[in-house]
Amino acid sequence: MQTLREIVVFIHLIGFATLFGAWLAQAFGGKRQFTQLMNIGLAIAGVAGLALAAPWGIDWTPGMSFYIKITVKLVVLIIIGALLGIGMGRQKRGETVPGGMFWTVGILALLNAGLGFFWH
Ligand code: HEM
Repeated sequence: MQTLREIVVFIHLIGFATLFGAWLAQAFGGKRQFTQLMNIGLAIAGVAGLALAAPWGIDWTPGMSFYIKITVKLVVLIIIGALLGIGMGRQKRGETVPGGMFWTVGILALLNAGLGFFWH
């Protein structure tokens, strides 16, 4: 069970890497547009994250802090998804993604990774 949880954490990290990597490629040297790869990374991180939100494969009982953390992460994920959706809608209409919207997605992706990594 513990090994399976570690595999799901690994998949969660692949989702993060896909989302943030796709964003970095666009931020530095790219056209600063939202791409389908970001959606895919977000979906992978989201599905694996929801699986990790249940307390299985761990030998400790999650306290309030754990549930606050995953609630915050879920809210951040929904905001990222909304921004990607709005931005991609604009791109389809031939408009550009506003700079603030583009940078917020990268910062929020990092924030969620930081919450997973540092908040124990
Ligand atoms: C953009 C979305 C997300 C990103 C980039 C992200 C990233 C990360 C990263 C980097 C870790 C650290 C893994 C480690 O080294 O232990 C982590 C852990 C974790 N994440 Fe996420 N995450 C996201 C969304 C979510 C969501 C939506 C949930 C749940 C609703 C979630 C639940 C968790 C849990 C339970 C852990 C393990 C933390 C622990 O065991 O204390 N994540 N996440």
